[in-house]
Amino acid sequence: AHKQKQDDYELLGKISQFYQKNLKTHTDSKTVIDYLKGRGLTGEIVKQFGIGYCADSWDDMMNVFGNSSQNSKQLVDLGMAIQGDKNRPYDRFRGRVMFPIKDKRGRVIGFGGRVLADGTPKYLNSPETRIYHKGQELYGLYEARQHCKNLNRLVVVEGYMDVVALAQHGINYAVASLGTSTTEEQLQTMFRTVKEVICCYDGDRAGREAAWRAMDNALPLIRDGVSLKFVFVPDGEDPDTLVRKKGQQAFEKILDEAKPLSQFLFEHLLGQVNINSLEGKAALVESFQPYLQKLPDSTLKDSILNELANKFGTGSEQQLAKLNKNQPPAQ
Ligand code: CTP
Ligand code: MN
Ligand code: MN
Ligand code: MN
Ligand code: MN
Repeated sequence: AHKQKQDDYELLGKISQFYQKNLKTHTDSKTVIDYLKGRGLTGEIVKQFGIGYCADSWDDMMNVFGNSSQNSKQLVDLGMAIQGDKNRPYDRFRGRVMFPIKDKRGRVIGFGGRVLADGTPKYLNSPETRIYHKGQELYGLYEARQHCKNLNRLVVVEGYMDVVALAQHGINYAVASLGTSTTEEQLQTMFRTVKEVICCYDGDRAGREAAWRAMDNALPLIRDGVSLKFVFVPDGEDPDTLVRKKGQQAFEKILDEAKPLSQFLFEHLLGQVNINSLEGKAALVESFQPYLQKLPDSTLKDSILNELANKFGTGSEQQLAKLNKNQPPAQ
């Protein structure tokens, strides 16, 4: 099994190099490079992220890498080729800009591929395989660590292009959670590397919902000394479009002023009740309960409990004890 995985990493590494070479030598090269330039990327950043191109063909990759039945099976296992009903497997990725997804050690474990024009799906990703587990990996983490051995914060964004565009503008500490909402496992990985994580999702409904889910997933991990913050970009923007408009300095200022988790929690839950009545205040306190239960004991938790008690009239010992019960055991 170990040997098999070594083989898998090696093969995907070679395919990534093949895609990178395509970007320079394929007859579509100019179109693809113009596309990347049009998105504000320089050759240097394209190289830093190993971005490549797969030709619009059913078998370009298979012809080079799938020449024995053993190889072609491996390509199917790794999600690079698709086994149809009868014939030989064919290339999964066709006519796309290819983003290699690397694990923490820099080994290629999968790809995301973007169409050049307006085709669908806009992005095609490697499926779950024996070496690629979506909810566990963070696109760009390897590159961020390569760039700076001593990271003090990470920004988590939705997409490949957000990560790459931020790096293009000198913000080399963004990672993407890749389609899914950011999982507890991904948050744990980030908090093993840095003490501060800033969620910066797209300025749309999906992005705002993703922020709330990330907050919920992160609660069990929020201990003294680590912090989760949130940036809400304007409607219709994402980190890519925003950094291109504003530049590094202004974007980093926005990051510096990110909203702390506690503020996000209060604002969101306050928005759901009318606290002009005792009933409303009681409803607010109740609504905190599931979140407080997930939060381990910490100074922050005490402060939230105090704030609730002082501002929303839940001063009684019993009430606070109730809010404080059922917390998960310390890990
Ligand atoms: N995504 C995906 N499949 C899709 C659409 C999105 O896997 N059909 C994932 C990709 O990882 C993508 C991320 O979700 O990067 C964010 O999606 P979206 O905001 O729609 O795309 P952008 O990254 O903004 O794409 P672009 O700027 O290239 O248009
Ligand atoms: Mn899995
Ligand atoms: Mn989006
Ligand atoms: Mn987006
Ligand atoms: Mn985008």
